[in-house]
Amino acid sequence: MAQLIDGKAVAARVRAEVKVEVERLKAQRELTPGLAVIRVGEDPASKIYVTGKKKAAEELGFNSWEHHLEASIFQDELLALVQKLNADPAVHGILVQLPLPRHIDAERVIATVSPEKDVDGFHPINAGLLSLGKPGLRPCTPFGVMRLLEEAKCEIAGKRAVVVGRSNIVGKPQALMLLQADATVTICHRKSDLPREVAMADILVVAVGVPELIQGEWIKPGAVVIDVGQNRRADGKLVGDVDFQSASQRASAITPVPGGVGPMTIAMLMRNTIIAATGGV
Ligand code: GUN
Repeated sequence: MAQLIDGKAVAARVRAEVKVEVERLKAQRELTPGLAVIRVGEDPASKIYVTGKKKAAEELGFNSWEHHLEASIFQDELLALVQKLNADPAVHGILVQLPLPRHIDAERVIATVSPEKDVDGFHPINAGLLSLGKPGLRPCTPFGVMRLLEEAKCEIAGKRAVVVGRSNIVGKPQALMLLQADATVTICHRKSDLPREVAMADILVVAVGVPELIQGEWIKPGAVVIDVGQNRRADGKLVGDVDFQSASQRASAITPVPGGVGPMTIAMLMRNTIIAATGGV
C-alpha cells in the first residue's frame, strides 16, 4: 500500500511559512502584501475557488480585494480594471479567475496583467521565463506539485517523469518544472499510447479532468503518483484522474483526492503573492 502524500498538511505548512513572512514584512518594511481577485459572471466553481482564495489571503494578514463583475461586462471595461490594478501600488498580485465568458478574449486579459503582478504565472512573459529556465512567477498548481514531491522526499534528478495533460495551466508548466529539476520528461495527450507511456514513469503527474482514467495496472511498481484531477462522478463522489484503489496497490506514494494537490494551489498562490510583493523571483 502506497504512502499517502498529505496535501492538506503540506499546504498548512506553506501557509504557516507565508504567515511568518507577512509578519516580518509588516514589521520590518511596513509592507502588507495585497491580492486582488477578479471574478466575472456566476460560474459556481469559480465562486467557490475565489472565496477560498480570499479567505486564505485574509487569514494570512494580506490586503485582499474581490472584484465581481457581471457576465455581460464589455471586454474593455475588464481590461480597464486590470490596468487600474496594475497601477495601484497597494496591489502586488492580480488574479483573473478562469473561465471567462465566451465574448471575452482570455488571452488578451491575461496578457494585460502586469507580469510582475501575475500571481497565476499565466502571462506569456512568465511562461517564457519558465521555458527558458529563468526565475519568474510560476503557475500555482504545478508549483505546488513540486513542493509535494519535495515533501515526499521524491528524488527527481535522473528519474523518468511522465505528465499526462498538456494544458497551459498545469501540464506544460509541470513538464518544464520537472525538466528544470533534471527529470527525463514525457508529455502525454489524447493521441498518446497511455498504458505504454505511463508504465515508464518513476514520477507520474496526471492533469486531464477525466475521472479515473489511469488504471493501477499501467503504473510501474514503486512510482510516485500525483493526481491533479478533481472530478465529480455520476454517483456524486469526488474522484481524481487516477483510479486510486488500484494505483495505491502499485505506487510507493500517491496523492489522495480530495486532500492531495487541491489544497496546494491556494497555498502556492499565497506564496506567489509574497514573491510579487517583495520582487523576490
Ligand atoms: N481556473 C481554474 N484553475 C485556475 C487557476 O489556477 N487560476 C485561475 N485564475 N483560474 C483558474
